[in-house]
Amino acid sequence: MREELSQIIQTYLAKIKQAKTQNELGEIYLELFGKNGEITKIPKQFPQLSIEEKKIIAPLFTRTKLELEKAVEESKEKILEEGYKKLNLEKLDPKGQIKKRQGHLHPSTQFKKEIVDLFQKLGFQEIFAPHVEWDKYNFEDLNIPKDHPSRDMWDTLYVDTSRLEIDPGSMLLRTHTSNFWPRLMSKGKTPICAMSFDRCFRYEAVDARHAHTFNQFEIAIVGEKGKFISMANLKYLSDYLLKGILGKEAKSRFRPKYYPFVEPGVGIDCLCVFCHGKGCKICSGIGWFEIAGAGLIHPNVLSATGIDPKEHNGLAWGFGPDRMLMLKHSIEDIRYFLEGDLKFLQSY
Ligand code: PHE
Repeated sequence: MREELSQIIQTYLAKIKQAKTQNELGEIYLELFGKNGEITKIPKQFPQLSIEEKKIIAPLFTRTKLELEKAVEESKEKILEEGYKKLNLEKLDPKGQIKKRQGHLHPSTQFKKEIVDLFQKLGFQEIFAPHVEWDKYNFEDLNIPKDHPSRDMWDTLYVDTSRLEIDPGSMLLRTHTSNFWPRLMSKGKTPICAMSFDRCFRYEAVDARHAHTFNQFEIAIVGEKGKFISMANLKYLSDYLLKGILGKEAKSRFRPKYYPFVEPGVGIDCLCVFCHGKGCKICSGIGWFEIAGAGLIHPNVLSATGIDPKEHNGLAWGFGPDRMLMLKHSIEDIRYFLEGDLKFLQSY
């Protein structure tokens, strides 16, 4: 066994010295210390040795093992160092090596710019309201009192305030951009002609048409009663948006619909861009897509924000731009907007 050990050490020290890469060294290591490795095999023969022999062979075995382990370790470092040296010698030429790949705005952001530009031309002022909002601005001032059944229209994500001195249920992720109206209206400056394009959040069962985080585009106008605020103007502004985005042929229609913060309230449909109203697979045979909610601002909302409903009135609508963008580009799944998938992003 003594000879066997000296044979191993001779052969393997030479092999280790010659190894040029980490991979080669890894293989040598396995040949020695793997499951059936040359070194692993040795102690299995110990039971056949006499006590005298064991006293000589065991320490010799340990020394051989340690020596080989050390050699592997040293060779590993040498290989690494040589690798670094080589790297230092190579000249870096950043211009030649890095391919130019220019990023661009997210499709939703491009769309936002397009829409905001359209309404800036009409004199609308862009407003930002908080994403994490008080119940007051998201619901209460909008004529949706606590425990009112109409709250069920919004699947709300409430913020856990148990560690703050804040009443439970009074802070939430805003369910719509309408929270900007009471914030702006309570400043006491009329007339108001404002818009907001921003993120909203709902507790949704996520699928191809529903996302927990999505965009809304809302406008709100408040001014002297009888001057320029009417359902006719609301219709004009809806068509203005649709034609601006989808082309001259785009059309909207109003259906009566309930929203607590408007009276009268309407749902806005958009003529199907694929079949022009005939009814096809994409619009489920209806010929129209529901795309927005709208109406004249409820007198209770005006009063809640300190505006006299006898002297003023208002109009508002809220569109789902993600849905519109899906229609415009035949995008099948709303989840693409949030996933950051480069293949999707680079095609816009
Ligand atoms: N904020 C409403 C929603 O999220 C949409 C809406 C806006 C409806 C303005 C009427 C008037 O569903």
